[in-house]
Parts: sequence; structure tokens; C-alpha cells
Amino acid sequence: MIQPPASKNIAIFASGNGSNAENIIAHLRATGSPLNVALIVTNRADAGVVQRAARLGVPVAVLTRRDINDPATMLGVLEAQDIEFIVLAGFLLMIPPFLVDRFEGRMINIHPSLLPRHGGKGMFGRHVHEAVIAAGDRETGITVHRVSHHYDSGAVIFQARVPVDSTDTPATVEAKIHALEREHFPRVVCEAFSPIP
Ligand code: GRF
Repeated sequence: MIQPPASKNIAIFASGNGSNAENIIAHLRATGSPLNVALIVTNRADAGVVQRAARLGVPVAVLTRRDINDPATMLGVLEAQDIEFIVLAGFLLMIPPFLVDRFEGRMINIHPSLLPRHGGKGMFGRHVHEAVIAAGDRETGITVHRVSHHYDSGAVIFQARVPVDSTDTPATVEAKIHALEREHFPRVVCEAFSPIP
């Protein structure tokens, strides 16, 4: 009898709506992946991701900036759920160095532009799409990258592109970006954290 691969637990860190978190959870469940989203970490009790997690039956840890920056608290929350991988999906706080080090090679982030363009501190959500329009870029997209000690840096593991045309607004660009995230991010998470066959 071939044993199924042991499940490996993922924590998703999110501060907003949680559409990426939900898409990842749904994809892993639908594909019978050995990866399991065992925890949602957020710094916003009122974030949409909290309601989505409740509906999906995934535990939520609402942590303050102080909690997240305290090694005993942060690592204790992750160890309690046997977390092996971390996915940042719209998480707006800086990840403390001890956590980057502890999850070296096992933490990824999604950014809604083609890094290195329009990355860095303060570049999140609608601000990114406004910058794309203001710069007159003819294309934009998503970037999934390993997390390092600096905002939106770290090795890029995936990018997908979409044209930007003259009629686009930040809102229409955002809709294009969300469509790319929906299409690609769950699969990229699986590929990033699944053992090479
Ligand atoms: C996404 O656009 C992602 O690229 C960015 O933050 C947003 C999160 O959206 N990092 P959601 O909370 O997953 O809906």
C-alpha cells in the first residue's frame, strides 16, 4: 500500500480581502494536495480574510505588530499548527528578520506588478496600479518571489503579464491583476512547496 505523502501545513498571512487565500485553500482541497492551509495570520480583525477563513473552517490568528515582531509569540503561533511554509498574500506589515531567517526558502510573497517595477515600501494594492498608469507602462502583471530582508526583493519564482492599454484605469488594471492571481497563484504555491517528484 503506497502511503499518501504526509500533509505539510501552510500559513497564509493576509491583511485584506483574502481572495488569494480563499483561492489557494480551494485549489489545494480540490486537487487533493498534501499541502494544507492550517492557519491564517492577520493584523486586521476586520479584514475580509477573517470571514473567509471562518467560512472555510481555517483557524485565524489576529496578531498585533508587537506580536508579529516577538519571536516567542510569532514562532509559538506557527509551531502550534506545525507550519512548514508561509505565503504572504496582501500582508501589509514588514516580516521581521527572525521570521525571514527561520523560513528561509520556505516563504513566498505575491506582488501585483512586474518587479522590480513598482515595488518597495508603500507600493501595495491600488497604489501599484496607479503607478503603472502614471508611468505609462504598456504592460503589467504579477510577481511571486521568495521573501528576503527587504520589501519586494528576493528571488523571483514566477511572473505573468497582461497588456495595459490607453483606456485602462487603476480599477481596470486591478481587475486584470486579480484575474492573473486567480489563474496562477494557487498553482505556483503548489509548485513552490511541493517536493520535486
Ligand atoms: C493582491 O492583489 C496581492 O497581489 C497583493 O495584495 C492583494 C491581496 O488581495 N499583495 P486579497 O486580500 O488576496 O484579495
